[in-house]
Amino acid sequence: MAEAICLFTKGTIIIKSPKKSPIFLRMIVLVFAMVCGVYICSVCLNQTNFGTTSKLLNVEINKRHCCDYEVDRSQTPYAHYPKPETFSRAECACNPVRYFAIFSMQRSGSGWFETLLNSHTNVSSNGEIFSVKERRNNVTSILTTLDRVYNLDWFTSASKNQCSAAVGFKWMLNQGLMENHKEIVEYFNNRGVSVIFLFRRNLLRRMVSVLANSFDRYAKLLNGTHKSHVHSLEEADTLSRYKPVIDLSSLVTDLKQMDQRVSEALEYFSSTRHIRLYYEDLVKNRTVGCFFTSQGTVDI
Ligand SMILES: *[C@@H]1O[C@H](CO)[C@@H](O)[C@H](O)[C@H]1NC(C)=O
Ligand SMILES: *[C@@H]1O[C@H](CO)[C@@H](O)[C@H](O)[C@H]1NC(C)=O
Ligand SMILES: *[C@@H]1O[C@H](CO)[C@@H](O)[C@H](O)[C@H]1NC(C)=O
Ligand SMILES: *[C@@H]1O[C@H](CO)[C@@H](O)[C@H](O)[C@H]1NC(C)=O
Repeated sequence: MAEAICLFTKGTIIIKSPKKSPIFLRMIVLVFAMVCGVYICSVCLNQTNFGTTSKLLNVEINKRHCCDYEVDRSQTPYAHYPKPETFSRAECACNPVRYFAIFSMQRSGSGWFETLLNSHTNVSSNGEIFSVKERRNNVTSILTTLDRVYNLDWFTSASKNQCSAAVGFKWMLNQGLMENHKEIVEYFNNRGVSVIFLFRRNLLRRMVSVLANSFDRYAKLLNGTHKSHVHSLEEADTLSRYKPVIDLSSLVTDLKQMDQRVSEALEYFSSTRHIRLYYEDLVKNRTVGCFFTSQGTVDI
């Protein structure tokens, strides 16, 4: 815009300044030059105000969407304006969208946590999309899948379509996440995706839940259906009647391995923008769920 006006001004100087009524034309040129100067100055000032602290921020300023000005500046790299191929965002085209991924392990409360997120009208967490093997066969198919999810072109029962303000999914550590961590970290940092680590503090309880769940897969205690997540106290009572047997000889090794896997995940993805949550804390204190508005890393 600034350049366009300036070019026009130059053009005016070169083409139109000759003779005729020189003073009048010069005045016009002068006024144009002043307007142009003031405009450039205001643009420069704006950019200086936006800060030069991070490279990401500067890159974002260049790509800045016209309707981006309402967004908190510190959040700029994380506010996106996807243009889905399969539909139009219509009146919500200027609503910024946050990208997130929940990194978790089976039986750690991620199903419950996702239900909480999806109860918000503008949040879409699309479930375990990488439970399907073809989607995580290689890095290419992983990245293609991520592109579709974050471009809002991925449809599940959780999709909120054009008015989504945050979109993501849950990703279990054993679903190609650890093997392809380098490329995924790069993708997340380039695209401004925030990571939510959701683990369970009590790994022994998690182990019991894993054993009970795999038992129920064939025992089908709830009237012949297998349910991974219960929805009432009665269902929970029925399932908890089963007491799994734990192999003591490998217990300590198994728990250590689980713990190590969590530590590895935290280390691999430490350079992403992330928050670390524990199921036990969430159950106790639900105000923690307000992380979407929190800035930076919150560790609890
Ligand atoms: C990656 O996986 C997809 C899906 O399974 C497959 O179609 C594609 O050929 C694979 N690409 C490479 C480079 O192996
Ligand atoms: C949330 O969704 C509603 C419609 O479902 C929309 O009117 C509103 O603008 C959205 N809010 C944000 C912050 O995107
Ligand atoms: C199982 O069947 C019993 C008796 O028919 C019924 O009362 C109960 O609600 C059913 N439970 C589920 C989880 O469908
Ligand atoms: C719940 O968590 C929030 C955010 O971490 C904290 O500010 C608050 O004090 C906690 N409340 C309780 C009762 O622990």
